Amino acid sequence: MKQHLSHISIINGEIFLPGDKSISHRALIFSALAKGRSSIKNLAESDDVLATINCLKGLKVKIQKNQDVYIIQGVGRQGFKKPDVPLYCGNSGTTTRLLSGVLAAQDFPSEITGDDSLSRRPMKRVIDPLEQMGCTIKSEGGKLPLHFLPTGDIKPIEYKMPVASAQVKGAVLLAGLHCKNTSTLIEDNLYTRDHTEIMLNLPVDIIGKKKVIKVSGSYFPTRGKYFIPGDISTAAFFIVLTILAKNSVLLLQNVSLNKRRTEFIEILKNMGAKISLTHKGESYNELYGDIYVESSDLKNIEISTELIPAIIDEIPILSIAGAFAEGEFSIRGAKELRIKESDRIKSICSNLKIAGFKTIEFNDGFSFDGKIEKGYQTFESFGDHRIAMAFSVLACLKKEGSDVNRFECVSVSNPDFLNQLELIKA
Ligand code: S3P
Repeated sequence: MKQHLSHISIINGEIFLPGDKSISHRALIFSALAKGRSSIKNLAESDDVLATINCLKGLKVKIQKNQDVYIIQGVGRQGFKKPDVPLYCGNSGTTTRLLSGVLAAQDFPSEITGDDSLSRRPMKRVIDPLEQMGCTIKSEGGKLPLHFLPTGDIKPIEYKMPVASAQVKGAVLLAGLHCKNTSTLIEDNLYTRDHTEIMLNLPVDIIGKKKVIKVSGSYFPTRGKYFIPGDISTAAFFIVLTILAKNSVLLLQNVSLNKRRTEFIEILKNMGAKISLTHKGESYNELYGDIYVESSDLKNIEISTELIPAIIDEIPILSIAGAFAEGEFSIRGAKELRIKESDRIKSICSNLKIAGFKTIEFNDGFSFDGKIEKGYQTFESFGDHRIAMAFSVLACLKKEGSDVNRFECVSVSNPDFLNQLELIKA
């Protein structure tokens, strides 16, 4: 579906966003594993999170919504039941990889499938460590569908992460919960988002540049009452729109302020953005609070490759900030962008070309310079929600507005994107 986005001249308002996607997936899975009734407030209701709910229901977990609270009847250790049909993860890499860690430890067979985009994404990165832990997973070329054979006992592992991926880390840690003995996971100099380890309260040591995480059956989750802070990656689109629109202010309330997720805010601040954060509370070690943003003039800066895992989902919208900032924008060390919901290096560059920029594509990033061309343009989402929303922001900033093709994919993380835009424009 082609969506027209009209020009927005001023942003002025406040907004509460639905729960963070990464935290929502984990709260659901931990609640399903724990024995007894758990509740989750402000759960994201995007397609990706609904995929996790449906897969858990496929494993015979009872999940229902009472007013605005999700109630999960957790099944406890080895309480999942063999699904009657393959577990369909839709577009959701997080559902696939986190659930792989759980399915790897079950004594029944199961199968995971997904949509076309997910079926092109690499799964060998979870198959390898899980097979080292004693599970057998059949696949063709490390792609979906994945067939999990029944596993007797999961073995502990000492695993040094070969790729910077929080999803892979989550899979190994979730499998490690099913084993009495301790597993060790090491991230070397490339720290990914830390929701799994902090929400489960796992012991973490920093040794030089290494992060060492331990997990064992004694950290198996118990039932809980979760509050999911607003999605900081969704907030990023509104933050950048406010910075770039003139005479604008926006207050985002109760958003996740997890340190490994707010790194893009530090980058924007270093580019000259006026943003302030106020901490208000925490739930399961996840910090949250308010973000206040004002229109600002930006200058492009060098972005360290060490920060890439922490800003991986925000690179599409950071590049829109870069398009309006003084100087050249450049991102390197971000090869992982090629295997997201689309090849994001290609998706960003081809849309920036449409917008009138001179772009250079590298294997691990891109750079661009120039000015936005006047006139009405049509951007491509490539079926990728973050590309659709990033170029919607660009479209709203153009005097003439613009179109975004295959816009419906925004529902993967934020079905309410258009309503939220309406709400905050002056
Ligand atoms: C996620 C991890 C990231 C991110 C994704 C969500 C998670 O992927 O891109 O949107 O919740 O663990 P990686 O596995 O590449 O870190």
